[in-house]
Amino acid sequence: MDFPIRTFFALAPSGETRITLARLAGGLAQRTKGRATEPASIHLTLAFVGDVDGNGLDALQDIGEALPREGFDLVLDATGGFARPRVAWVAPSLIPAALSRLQSELALALAAGGFRLEERNFAPHLTVARKCEEVPSREGILPIPWRIDAVRLWATAPRLGPRRYEELAVWPLTFGHVSLPAQTAGPS
Ligand code: 2AM
Repeated sequence: MDFPIRTFFALAPSGETRITLARLAGGLAQRTKGRATEPASIHLTLAFVGDVDGNGLDALQDIGEALPREGFDLVLDATGGFARPRVAWVAPSLIPAALSRLQSELALALAAGGFRLEERNFAPHLTVARKCEEVPSREGILPIPWRIDAVRLWATAPRLGPRRYEELAVWPLTFGHVSLPAQTAGPS
């Protein structure tokens, strides 16, 4: 592996959820005159880490290993866009407590490990189209259920194309926990 590599922790849909999102991405890209994200690349970034060397990668593996293992369900029920990067996204309007916990523990572990934290606030979303000529405004959609059963460490792999990702590690999550009610609002 050639270092440095650009890494991030992510959640990635599979099965029906991915198929539905891919269809939505195609529709949104057409509507906004943008470019749809490839189905296999659709993801929600939990924490963007940036460039790391071999030691950094080992440290990220340890951090992933120690994360909470509580699986949870997410409902994607809104689309919208970010004006500056000109992207269209799909997002949950409610963030389950388990997702907040996972993200905050990850952020704490990264900070404790000496990784520089991203400056933008956590606004969970999946970018489904880029280079949109018309950035969509927020609207509700038919809810898309998504069972979150793994946390992934991904790297951007420029040799595979600018928006292709390589999976470096995956940590399965487990179910059967008592879930707390959804608590905070998603991106607006
Ligand atoms: P995006 O989907 O909103 O573009 C890999 O690049 C992933 O990390 C993408 O999901 C991207 O978010 C996110 N990302 C890229 N640069 C970032 C940054 N500086 N801060 C936070 N997230 C970033």
